Formats: sequence, structure tokens, C-alpha cells
Amino acid sequence: MSTTGTPGPALSADGRSAGATSVGTLEPKEAGVRRLPGFDPSAPLLQVEDLRVRFPTGDGLVNAVRGVSYSLKSGEVLGIVGESGSGKSVTSLAIMGLLPSSAQVTGSIRYRGQELLGRKDHELSRVRGKGVSMIFQDPMTSLDPVYKVGFQIVETLRVHDRKLSRQAANARAVELLELVGIPNAAARVDSYPHEFSGGMRQRVVIAIAMANQPDVIIADEPTTALDVTVQAQILEVLDTALDETGAAMVLITHDLGVVAGMADRVLVMYAGRPVEIGSVDDIYYEPRMPYTLGLLGSLPRVDSEGRERLTPIIGSPPSMVNMPPGCPFGPRCPLHIPECDTEEPPLFQLGPDHNAACIRTDEVARAHGRAAEVFDETSADTLLAQDVYPVELEIAPETERDAVPAGEPAPDQADRPGGPTTSRGESA
Ligand SMILES: Nc1ncnc2c1ncn2[C@@H]1O[C@H](COP(=O)(O)OP(=O)(O)OP(=O)(O)O)[C@@H](O)[C@H]1O
Ligand code: SF4
Ligand SMILES: [Mg+2]
Repeated sequence: MSTTGTPGPALSADGRSAGATSVGTLEPKEAGVRRLPGFDPSAPLLQVEDLRVRFPTGDGLVNAVRGVSYSLKSGEVLGIVGESGSGKSVTSLAIMGLLPSSAQVTGSIRYRGQELLGRKDHELSRVRGKGVSMIFQDPMTSLDPVYKVGFQIVETLRVHDRKLSRQAANARAVELLELVGIPNAAARVDSYPHEFSGGMRQRVVIAIAMANQPDVIIADEPTTALDVTVQAQILEVLDTALDETGAAMVLITHDLGVVAGMADRVLVMYAGRPVEIGSVDDIYYEPRMPYTLGLLGSLPRVDSEGRERLTPIIGSPPSMVNMPPGCPFGPRCPLHIPECDTEEPPLFQLGPDHNAACIRTDEVARAHGRAAEVFDETSADTLLAQDVYPVELEIAPETERDAVPAGEPAPDQADRPGGPTTSRGESA
């Protein structure tokens, strides 16, 4: 049963005022499974199976997503991590049916037992917002700059409940803004997006995402565009939103620190496919895929014993066009052996809920999550010791550096040997 569009005591019935993060309450979770007509409330919430997305381009077919499978239970938070270009957003946009028409999508996406793939846009619009809603990375891409924020929330509410009066929808918009911690919500409901700070805009986007009390919220890098202090507040708002709505969440980020505090399970993506999936403890303390270990090693850990070096993953992900056979992480992997180039490793089952795509999981297991045990040859310390880039870091003799004619700017970092350009001379 949905409370969407039901004015009255559902939100902020206790009359609490707006606070830093959250006030008000939604209808209690115990009210039961909110269902859409035609969908089976007893079926798994969201099941993605062997999802593949390809984009035809001038350079060939871009294999953006290459076999993503996961399922999401009610109330669960699944973190999806991976570096830029690994297919996180394309996977989510495919679930929402928001990919460009040129995209070739295969596999299966079932929401409450019903297949979404191949459905027409007007059919999917029944699911969007009320079944599955999405929070985008940049709030300005999802807020319309020419409409007041209150109007945008009201429209979201009325799309799914035509009978809801404008007055009732307005009242609910204020309550939603209070819920996400917008101070003086009754007045701010009439503001335009540009009158809000980035953090407040993201709160509005969260309010819109939860307006119709969806079963699933997909949050695509919801804090990446924000400064660290505001990030923490937004994560708190999201946490409260989940508590209040009972929704499950797919939390996408490239920051393992963000998912650590919120997720129940973590799926690590590399080159368009999952390479490891497990509980938060599996991923943080017993990762079995070198890439996951590398991600952990590039983050400072508060639970580390003594001084541990950060160990960056050197190199870049492969091109998604015409990928060579073998493990896509091979060129960057310190545990690479010739056998890794034979075929791409499948996801091996390592525990009841722990899978990793690597043929050397036993060796990775010995590191017990300490990346420096595996990645020490490419550590930041080695880089600083000039073992890797001795020539590029060479500094010109002082006499050459002094030879800048009076009135001309001194060359910056980019002018140094190995830098991207030599601006003096070229730009003159
Ligand atoms: N419309 C498109 N046409 C062609 N290629 C695309 C299109 N959309 C995405 N891609 C490609 O698909 C791949 C996956 O992109 P995606 O946006 O999912 O990455 P991501 O993991 O979300 O990265 P980020 O962390 O930077 O947001 C990238 O190589 C990207 O260039
Ligand atoms: S299969 Fe080989 S190259 Fe790939 S992650 Fe495992 S050890 Fe590294
Ligand atoms: Mg993305």
C-alpha cells in the first residue's frame, strides 16, 4: 500500500521542526509491502541477471556492461564500487529504462517478479519513482532550474496519484523537505534550485526520490559533488530516509569509505562486470580479488595497525572496445601470471555469499586485506624513490630555470620535462 498522495499525519505528524539532517516520519514500515498493481509483493525485490549493454560508436561496439547479476532484498543496502568507466551508471540507467535508444541491452531485470527489460516507456513510468527511484550524482541534472523546488516535488507526487489535490501535495512537499533537513521548509518550498547550496539541492533530490516511498532507491554517487562535511550530512539523510521508508538501496560510489558505513553487501565492478561480491566484512577484511585489494590499499584505514603505506593501482582500465582475451585486470595486477591471459576468469564461489573473479584467490587470501603485501612493488614510496619515473621527475639545472626573461611568467609544473606541454614558446 502506498502512502503517496495521502495527506495528513503520515509525515512529521509529531510536529518536530526541521533539523540538521532529518525530522518527521513516514508511514511506519509495518504498514506492509507497498505494491504496484500487477507486481507480486512476495517476489524478490530486484533481480538483475546477466545484464549486458553495448553502445555502437564510430570506433566499434563499446561493451559498457558485460554480465552484471545481483539481487536485492527488502531493506538491504548494496554498495556498488569501481573506478570511473566501470559501468556503474550504465547498469543503473538500464534498470531505470533511461538509456539512449541506441543502446543494445540484453539479460533480465525483474522488479517484484516482473520483467522490466523490453517494456515500453509508459509502462516503465509506473515503476519509476514508486517502485524504483534514482538519485543522480549532480543534483542540477535532476532538478529543473526554471521550476520552484516545491513544484517539482508536487509534480512527482501527482504523477503517481492523480487524485491528490495541489494543496495536499504542497503540504506533503513541505513535510518531505523537513524530513531531509531543509530549515524553514514552509518558506523554502518556494525557492528555485539556484537559491539552494549544493548540499541543500541534494537534499531536495533525496526528498523527490523518496516522495512516493519507493521500494528501491538507486543512489548514483550521491555525495561525490559535495565537500566532505556536507557528504557526511547527506549520508545521514540517506540513512534516515531508508529508516523511515524501509526502502532498499543500491549505493553507487567510487569511494569504499562511503559504502563501509552504510552497505550490507558490496559489489566491486571492473571493466563492465562484477569482479567481487560479498558482505562488507568479506570485502574489507578478506577480499579475494587483487583489484578489490588495490582499492582498499589506496585508502587510509582507521583500523590499520601501525604505519601502513598507501598502495595505488598503477595504470588505467582497458578500452571497452575489442577487449583482449584473459583477465581485464591483468596488465595492472601484481599477481599476474601467464595463465591469467588464457580466458577471463568467471566469478568463483568462495563462500555462501562471497564470489571473486580471479584464478589466484588463495594467494590474495594470504594478504588478509593488507594491500601492501601484494602491491608493494608499485607503492607510492617506490614512486617517490623515482624507481618508476626517474626521468620525468628530473628537475632542470638552476641556471636554466633562472633563464626566464624579465616580465615573462616562470614555467609551471606543465613545463617540466615529461609534463603535458611546454607552454612557453608554444603558446607565445
Ligand atoms: N551513450 C554512450 N555511448 C557510448 N559509450 C557510453 C555511453 N554511455 C556510457 N558509455 C561508456 O560506458 C562505459 C561505462 O560508463 P559509466 O557511465 O557506466 O561508468 P561509471 O562506472 O558510472 O563511471 P563514473 O564513476 O565516471 O561515473 C564508459 O566507458 C563510457 O564511456
Ligand atoms: S586472474 Fe590473474 S591477472 Fe586477474 S586478478 Fe587474478 S591474478 Fe590478477
Ligand atoms: Mg557514473
